[in-house]
Amino acid sequence: MAILVTGGAGFIGSHFIEMALARSDAKLICLDCYNDFYDPELKRSNVAKFHENDRVEVVEEDFCNHSAMLALFEQHAVSHVVHLGAYAGVRYSVENPFVYERSNVAGTLSLLEAARRFPVERFLLSSSSTVYGRGAAVPFTEDAPLGIPMSPYGATKRSAELLALAYHDLHRIPSVCLRPFSVYGPRLRPDLAMTVFTDAIEYGKPLPLFGDGSIRRDFTHVSDICAGFYAALSADGVVGESINLGHSEPIEVRALIAELERALGKKAVIDQQPEKPGDMPITYANLEKAERLLGYRPQMDFREGVSEYVAWFREYHAGK
Ligand SMILES: NC(=O)c1ccc[n+]([C@@H]2O[C@H](COP(=O)([O-])OP(=O)(O)OC[C@H]3O[C@@H](n4cnc5c(N)ncnc54)[C@H](O)[C@@H]3O)[C@@H](O)[C@H]2O)c1
Repeated sequence: MAILVTGGAGFIGSHFIEMALARSDAKLICLDCYNDFYDPELKRSNVAKFHENDRVEVVEEDFCNHSAMLALFEQHAVSHVVHLGAYAGVRYSVENPFVYERSNVAGTLSLLEAARRFPVERFLLSSSSTVYGRGAAVPFTEDAPLGIPMSPYGATKRSAELLALAYHDLHRIPSVCLRPFSVYGPRLRPDLAMTVFTDAIEYGKPLPLFGDGSIRRDFTHVSDICAGFYAALSADGVVGESINLGHSEPIEVRALIAELERALGKKAVIDQQPEKPGDMPITYANLEKAERLLGYRPQMDFREGVSEYVAWFREYHAGK
């Protein structure tokens, strides 16, 4: 078994590689281009956790480079793809849509085409809760009508899903689309609200709060997300499906701030700002399908997860 993990140096990808190393004897190929969407130093420190492991091949390459992908699939006899590599983040996509279109749409196509030439046993695509968009019924249910994506990011994730599903129909690529909801945990991306809030509270800076803090997010711990991906590598009945990976307990952003204040032992200095375009008012996963097909049940309690994250944040920044 040779699992190609795209975006393997990123937040979720690096956790997935560690989980797969612990749970299997598979060979892992960690593919990443270390783009500068956020500080590549954090990505390099993520990779340092497994760089020396004999079962991991670390490859620095852009998956939009199709000839390089063909060579990589052949050389490493890739049997499973966990496609986590992407430009993530809603707000940045509003100003920089072209980089999202390239990595998230053309890049996914490049990998699907490689999988067509060098067949794989499973192709897991990391989609996103943002595909539900404006107008989707809450809680979000996979096989109910989707709304209109509220950002270029959401639109590129929906496009990537459609390509993966079309390649399943047309070429029998064993695609599965997994839809993570607001993932958090150690090594969290610096652009995400939980990092921005933690940084502000810890260092006494103004905390930028867009809107009144009543928007709700279905925060899901990275270990639960990785367990869902891992189960989808071998589960029956999942090919050609889209499946939510969430926590099914939406939390208001102002409650997140209160939880961070508790974990840090400090008060936030709120800098009230108008609402930002692109933000959905709520994300909320229906997990019936994930439980039925993957045996997925989120384990990490939010309070415990926030405390663990804050401990990591302090340790990482103390060592910088
Ligand atoms: N973190 C979340 O809350 C969340 C929620 C829903 C979906 N997702 C999805 O999960 C996946 C992983 O997200 P993350 O939070 O770990 O993001 P991340 O930015 O930490 O990781 C993505 C990695 O992909 C790499 N990458 C991007 N374009 C590439 C390319 N063309 N070639 C090679 N590498 C490339 C980046 O360098 C980065 O290291 C993404 O597909 C994201 O859209 C994340």
